[in-house]
Parts: sequence; C-alpha cells; structure tokens
Amino acid sequence: MTAITPTTVPSTEPTIATEPGAAHRTATPRHFLMCPPTYFDVLYEINPWMDLAVPVEPGRAMAQWEALRTAYEDHGHTVHVIDPVPGLPDMVYAANGGVVVGGRALAARFTHDERRPEGAAYEAWFAAAGDLGVTSLGQAAELDEGEGDLLLAGDVLLAGTGFRTSRAGHAEVAERLGVEVVTLELVDPRYYHLDTALSVLDAADGTVAYLPEAFSPASRAVLRERYPDAILATPADAAVLGLNAVSDGRHVFLTDRATGLHDRLRERGFEPVGIDLSELLKGGGSVKCCTLELRPAGAVEGSA
Ligand code: ARG
Repeated sequence: MTAITPTTVPSTEPTIATEPGAAHRTATPRHFLMCPPTYFDVLYEINPWMDLAVPVEPGRAMAQWEALRTAYEDHGHTVHVIDPVPGLPDMVYAANGGVVVGGRALAARFTHDERRPEGAAYEAWFAAAGDLGVTSLGQAAELDEGEGDLLLAGDVLLAGTGFRTSRAGHAEVAERLGVEVVTLELVDPRYYHLDTALSVLDAADGTVAYLPEAFSPASRAVLRERYPDAILATPADAAVLGLNAVSDGRHVFLTDRATGLHDRLRERGFEPVGIDLSELLKGGGSVKCCTLELRPAGAVEGSA
C-alpha cells in the first residue's frame, strides 16, 4: 500500500512569479567563521586587484562587512568571529585561513610572506573550537590557502592551483582530510584563487558556476565533463568577483554588481542576495573570501 501524503500547502499561498524554480531549492543552516576588517588595508600588492595608490575607507569596509554578517544571520546562519590581528590586513579574508571537512580543520600555509602569520592565528582558533565540533589537524606543510582554493562539492574537494595552493598541497589535503581532490589549474592572475573563478551552488544536484576562461584547457574539459549543466559566468560578472559567492543551497550571497549572474541564478531557482563589498574588493576579495565554512563533525557532508 502506498501512503498518500495530503498536501499541506494552503491554496492561498502566494507564488513568487519571478523565481519559478525557487521551490526546489532548500537552504540548510551553516556555520561560518568571519574576521572583522579592523586592520584591513592595502599595504602590499600580491594580486592584480590590489593598488597601493587606491586608499581604503576603513569605516565603510567595516559597515559593509557587518552587512554581510547580518545578511547571513538574517537567513538563519550562525557566524563565529575570529579576533583580527594587528599588522595582518588581509586576515579579513577568512576563507583563506584553512579548510574544515567533517569537523577536521587544516589551517593554511600562505604563499606570500606578508600573509604567513595568518596560518597560525587560524590554527589557534581551530584548536580552541572543540566545543563547536571542530578538531585541529594543525597547519598544512605545503602551500595551501584554504577555502580560497579548496571548495567542497559533494564528496570531492575542487582544488585550484597555479598561483597559490600547490599540487603538493592538494595531495596533502587529500591524505589528511581523507577526501578526493580534483585539481583545477587557474591561468588568469585576476582569478588567482579558485573561489574567484568558481562557485559551488548546490552540491546535491551538482550545480556550479564558473568562468571557463579562468582555467587551462585541460581543466575546462574536466569541468565540462563533471558539470555539464553548470552556469557559465560572463567575463563581466567575473570581473566584479561575482563568482566569489556563498550558497546555502537556496540563497546565494554575492556582490550586488554581478547583475547578469543574479539573473542566471534566478533562472535556476536560487535567490541571489546582493551585498556591497566594494571596499573589500580593493584587496581582491568579495563575499566568499570573507567567509570560511565550518563543517562540524556530524554535519551533513555534501552541502555546498
Ligand atoms: N589580498 C588577498 C590575497 O591576495 C585577498 C584574498 C582573497 N581571498 C580569497 N578567498 N580569494 O591573498
């Protein structure tokens, strides 16, 4: 006998005409780690976005960061905050601090000397986060810029290389976290971290968005094969770091400037949440860069 489940949707429920597919997207609550931009500035140039001649407005940077944090909380997510360290202006880009899978955290080893000390700061935070279901595995031995280059997509970690995280770093992550790693080679210095060129939107149905031109021909072929239904971003959307996005499975938090990508997301049933992070863009980062996902032990893996 097949049980018949009566529908519980009241017939008066309004339909959202502009988001026809939204009904099949489900948000799951996330735990994020963020670092306030207290000491954020552009004091060196380690990516093409950074320009010592362009001043940062500290008050604006903080207000924008607070708005991102509030947007997460308003959508049901939990934001944990790591204390910023004076003299580490890029520490606001928390995604680079490490990668956490199944509650096990591997802290970063940065490519550039200017950012190196951030690895220890994030490692110390992970080591003290046992009550959140996080266990520290220490710092990576190989070059590894955390979720800047390591994006969990279901049961694999998509792993960028070419500018920061090394292939040896990928091998180390695979071994220490026990996760299959898919190496992707980045070729455009503007998209120096994987999270500037690719966004995992829904790991369950394999929806990702990426900029093909940011990858080597071989890596494009890997992406085409693995994600035939991917959203292909335009150069214009990538150039405002639109792909530097965070998805909870339904809501996609991204810069308000990537309007074309907002439309593509709506067509696929996502709800874009536009955020103005123009000050953080001066350091070469946007929404995802400011956000490290904590996946505590026991949490459902495979979440985007
Ligand atoms: N100025 C920083 C750097 O070049 C920006 C890091 C952005 N973070 C990211 N996850 N893409 O290292």
